[in-house]
This record gives sequence, structure tokens and C-alpha cells, in this order.
Amino acid sequence: MKSESFHRLASRMSHIDPFEVMEIQTAARELERQGKDVIHMEIGEPDFTTPRPIVDAAIAALNSQPMFYTSALGIQPLREAIAAYYASQYGVSVSPDRIIVTAGSSAALLLAFGVLLNPGDEVLMADPGYPCNRHFVRAMEGVPCTIPVGPEHAYQLAAGHIGQHWNDRSIAALVASPSNPTGTMIAADELRRIHAEVAARAGTLIVDEIYQGLTYGVAPSTALAIGDDVFVINSFSKYFQMTGWRLGWLVVPPAYVRDVEKLAQNLFISASTPAQHAALAAFHPDTLAILEARRAEFQTRRDFLMPALTGLGFKIPVVPQGAFYIYADSSHIATDSFELSRRILQEAQVALTPGKDFGHAAPERHIRIAYTQTVARLAEAIERMRGVIPG
Ligand SMILES: Cc1ncc(COP(=O)(O)O)c(C=O)c1O
Repeated sequence: MKSESFHRLASRMSHIDPFEVMEIQTAARELERQGKDVIHMEIGEPDFTTPRPIVDAAIAALNSQPMFYTSALGIQPLREAIAAYYASQYGVSVSPDRIIVTAGSSAALLLAFGVLLNPGDEVLMADPGYPCNRHFVRAMEGVPCTIPVGPEHAYQLAAGHIGQHWNDRSIAALVASPSNPTGTMIAADELRRIHAEVAARAGTLIVDEIYQGLTYGVAPSTALAIGDDVFVINSFSKYFQMTGWRLGWLVVPPAYVRDVEKLAQNLFISASTPAQHAALAAFHPDTLAILEARRAEFQTRRDFLMPALTGLGFKIPVVPQGAFYIYADSSHIATDSFELSRRILQEAQVALTPGKDFGHAAPERHIRIAYTQTVARLAEAIERMRGVIPG
């Protein structure tokens, strides 16, 4: 008989790391419980609420139709609206048949790895990078091959990395542009070179475009322009400011649609029905006007924060062109960014995310700063930090 304390745990769990930022959040919540005013710059979601037309579309749908499961591929009008958006915004023609609506880009990433990976297959990805990527690959029994990247490559994979790191177990490369945690982008011609290197090795390129639309001074683009053999991940979470609605999408090469559909049917049944109806309003001109004004506000915040942070002693070797993150080198201020973020939280009540969460490439030298606060709050955060960072 098994004892009551028997605890079975799959070996894959030894590869799943916790989010360090949760520790910071727990400590921040404790300070708030004590009545302290914490400025949150650690969280990876927009501070703007979902635009009104999207909320109204959800309410109208809830009042007028039953919220049954949808097709695992998503409701057809939404797949068509996404295709029309690619045509109007990016000048790229994508068949709605290749677009699968998912429960956030998290589900899109899981589905992509689910249809591509055999046990032991490797996926190349940048370090620093979005931590869940490693864990999605592990969950599908693959192996993440994390490649340390620094400012010389804008903290991104470059075409040269593919040849250097590809081996006989490699089957895919994953890039994100703009990236979390760095906000940096891969130039269109470099992305084409990466694609050519991956394709020459009969591999698959997966491009996470979750921060698409949130770019500053850079023309918007999509990897779908490169060819229909690229897997493209996207989401309503960031540009459309719908994080909690849990809605995203995946664009796959035509030959994969049926397999993604089968896996999505089994893993998720379908994405949220009310969220899909709400998202039909995401591409309306009224909504896009709201989102563009907010994009301009993010740019103002970035432009305020860059000189303010360097004035405190942080180094920002690459100007982040997108998302809402600055990945700052804190090594001139402190040797351990984890301790530094703890101290800034305790003494200045400003919450930041230490580099530790994003991989093993010099995490102790970096801090991610999210500009998901008004300029006035950012200014206050800078003043508070000035009080605790040695001048
Ligand atoms: C690079 C990147 N990919 C994917 C996701 C997952 O987001 P969601 O599932 O809300 O679309 C995030 C969330 O922060 C992210 O930063």
C-alpha cells in the first residue's frame, strides 16, 4: 500500500522553473497590505483596459446568442477578420483556412510544439527570452536549446546562430519580435536570412508576433510575408489589450491545419466563445483609433524612461523598438540584479523584474522594466529609485 505522503511527480517537472517575478509580486502585495503605495513596473500586461467597442461587442453577443463551444479552429467570421487585417495592415494575403483561433498565444505555442516535436527534438531560441517558451517545449517532450544573445545582436537570434547551434536533433527555431523581455526587434532582412538558414536545414521557423502593433518608429511587418512555411503566433492580449480574455491565434502552413485542429479539439475543445465574439470588434476603425492613441502613449513613456533610467546609472545598449519593456543593464549599480530589485522594492516601493526569470545569459546584470504606468507614475518611480540607488 502506498503511504499517504507518496507524491508522484513526472520528471519533466524538474525542468519547469517558477516565475521569480511572483516572489517580487508576493513581497509587493505584502507591502500594499501594510498600506504602502507600490508602483508596479514588473507586470507584463498593458495598464489600459480593453477598448469599449470590444467590451460592447461581448455584451451584445452575450445578450443575443448562446455561448456554446465553437469549432476548434475558431468562429469563421473572426478567422476572416484576422485575414482581412493582415491584408489591410500588412499587405499580406493569408487564407482564413490557415488561421486557428486559440486560448491566447500560450495555447498557440503549445499547439505548434505539439504538432512539430518528437521526444528529444530541439528548438533553438534566444536567451534572454520569454520563460514559458522553454516550458512549452518541455511539456511536449522537446528540448529547448537556448542561445545566449547580447546587445551586439540586439538580444535576438541572428542568422549566424542557426548554423552555429543547429545539430541533428534540431527541428525548429523560435524567435519573438518585438521580444519579451528586451523589447528589441529582428530587422526584416535578418528574419529572411534566419528563415533561409532554418529552411536549408529542413527545419521550421516559428515567429512569435504577440507584440505586433506595439512598435515605435518602425514600420509594422509580419513574418507571413516571407512565405507560407512559417508558423506565426499572435494574440489579442497586448496590442488589443485583452490579456484576461484569453484569446490569440496561430497561422500554420496549409498542410498542418488538420493536425492542429485535431490537437486543439482534444486539448482545448475551443477558445472562449464570448471572447471570440468580442474580438470581432477589435479590427473596427473606432477600436484601432483607440489602440493607436495608446500606442503613442506607450512611445511617450518609453521616450521618458530611457534617459531617466540612464540618468540613474542603468545602461540601455539597444533602444527597444517595441513591446512595453526596457531590458536595462544594472551592473554599474549592483552586481546582483535580484538583490537590487528586492532592495528597490523594499526601500522605494517600485516593483521591477530581475533578469533571472528570462534565462541564464548574464541575468544578474539585467532588470526588466515595464512601462505599464502613466508618465506621472513613471516619474515618481524614478524619483523614488534615485533615493535608494547610490549616485
Ligand atoms: C513573448 C510572449 N509570448 C507569449 C505570451 C503569452 O501571452 P498570451 O497567452 O496572453 O497571448 C507572452 C505573455 O507575456 C509573451 O510575452
